[in-house]
Amino acid sequence: MRSKIVAGNWKMNQTFEKADELLYQIGEKLEDNLPKNVELVICPPALYLELATDFAQEIEFKIGAQNVSEYDNGAYTGEISAQMLSSMDMDYCIVGHSERRKYFGESSDVLSTKVQRLLEYGIQPIFCVGEQLEERESNKYFDIVKSQISEGIFNLSLSEFSNVVIAYEPVWAIGTGKTASPEQAQEMHAYIRNLVSDKYGVEMADETTILYGGSCNAKNAKELFSQTDVDGGLIGGAALNAEDFITIANSF
Ligand code: 13P
Repeated sequence: MRSKIVAGNWKMNQTFEKADELLYQIGEKLEDNLPKNVELVICPPALYLELATDFAQEIEFKIGAQNVSEYDNGAYTGEISAQMLSSMDMDYCIVGHSERRKYFGESSDVLSTKVQRLLEYGIQPIFCVGEQLEERESNKYFDIVKSQISEGIFNLSLSEFSNVVIAYEPVWAIGTGKTASPEQAQEMHAYIRNLVSDKYGVEMADETTILYGGSCNAKNAKELFSQTDVDGGLIGGAALNAEDFITIANSF
């Protein structure tokens, strides 16, 4: 179902104490500033998922993992399976983040398997797509995003697809302070919604949640979120500050 979502991707940040403190601060801020009709999602490092689920019993937010194994349970040292995440009540899991594609060589095949695993266990994938700077500059950005989406999630059935959230994260905007302009974000989000419409029909396209990520912060969130096809954000750096994160969540 199309919903407004603000998700914080903590990436590989925070010690256990800092994670605990940040969750506590987010809880405090939410007490007098609970965003209306917005789903808040926190994606901490896997080690702190249990801590976050404990907080989530008291505070209104959902929990997402940052990664999942492409394999089912078994002899895969260091991996975490979709079944394990599901046994810890994960709501979401990020898949296809550009950092995983780039530093860990995750191919579309691997990502598509990860999506399948998550859906088998009732966890909603937040599937990330986005072009690199040279791909934007050479006007290849639509083609890149189209192939990432086709290869990663367009093999799903309609009912499987209805559980997927898409995040458009232009790589040149991630952690750089160079946000996509609201027009650039809207243009790509509308394009993605059209792709979904062509593949799964207008109704499904209308129901699909498409988030923007890439240097989204407390100052620019409102303008980005006011775009017709931008349903919220996947926030990196600014999600590590409770006040900024809650301000972003209240930016609709
Ligand atoms: P920044 O908000 O730090 O640019 O990161 C965005 C991101 O990669 C979220 O997944």
